[in-house]
Amino acid sequence: MSDEVARLRERVPYHVAIIMDGNGRWARARGQPRLAGHRAGVENLRRTLDACAKLGIKVLTVYAFSTENWGRPPAEVRGLMNILETVIDRELRRLHANGVQLRHVGVLEGLSESLQRKVRQAVALTRNNDRVTLNVAFNYGGRQEIVHAVQRIMRAGFAPEEVDTTLINYYLYTAGLPDPDLIIRTAGEMRLSNFLLWQASYAEYYSTPVFWPDFDQAELLKALHQYAQRERRFGLVSPSSS
Ligand code: IPE
Ligand code: IPE
Ligand code: MG
Repeated sequence: MSDEVARLRERVPYHVAIIMDGNGRWARARGQPRLAGHRAGVENLRRTLDACAKLGIKVLTVYAFSTENWGRPPAEVRGLMNILETVIDRELRRLHANGVQLRHVGVLEGLSESLQRKVRQAVALTRNNDRVTLNVAFNYGGRQEIVHAVQRIMRAGFAPEEVDTTLINYYLYTAGLPDPDLIIRTAGEMRLSNFLLWQASYAEYYSTPVFWPDFDQAELLKALHQYAQRERRFGLVSPSSS
């Protein structure tokens, strides 16, 4: 391991979340169809997960399909569904052997029966793995997540005085997971696009113009370096200012 990586390890974020954006632009720049960009994006996710596991990052959450992405051309939506299904078929065994716990963040409703079944099986198979957790935000919307949490809290019959941040955390799709420490967005946009609205409250942000399929380990290390230099104050006063 290089000295650089060893130094970074001291301040490695526990939970990294990535808005994997720019697959379409990556493909267009090569004169290829958008789906070729999505396939290249999946390959890059595999490399990134390996890099995160090696660096000691314990939780990786990736934004793969938003509730708004249903509005894309039907062929692209179908292609993205197929890619997810193929990836589960092809990668599950290896992920399980490598100690990866898979979680789905979002709702299964709306996906095909066979895809729903595969996601459930993958989650069940890997539930006791603890080397690294990969949360796949698929058919995920941050506002929808909060609406669902409120609905379930009301159905469970809680009194208004019982509702607090701990209770809401418990009813989110990410229940049991710590908030992200670092949110990376590739392809240059400076927005959340409905990703982890609640959980992002004190996350550090990092945006890079690099398209997701090109976001390699060197780019990840740049993000981690910047994170390591940030001072996270959580609303308090910096110790160095007093
Ligand atoms: C991100 O890449 C992947 C998904 C949203 C599914 P895009 O498909 O948004 O790529 P751009 O933003 O058009 O380049
Ligand atoms: C965010 O990217 C969603 C995913 C990466 C899955 P989008 O490409 O959908 O976001 P906008 O449209 O640029 O905000
Ligand atoms: Mg995009």
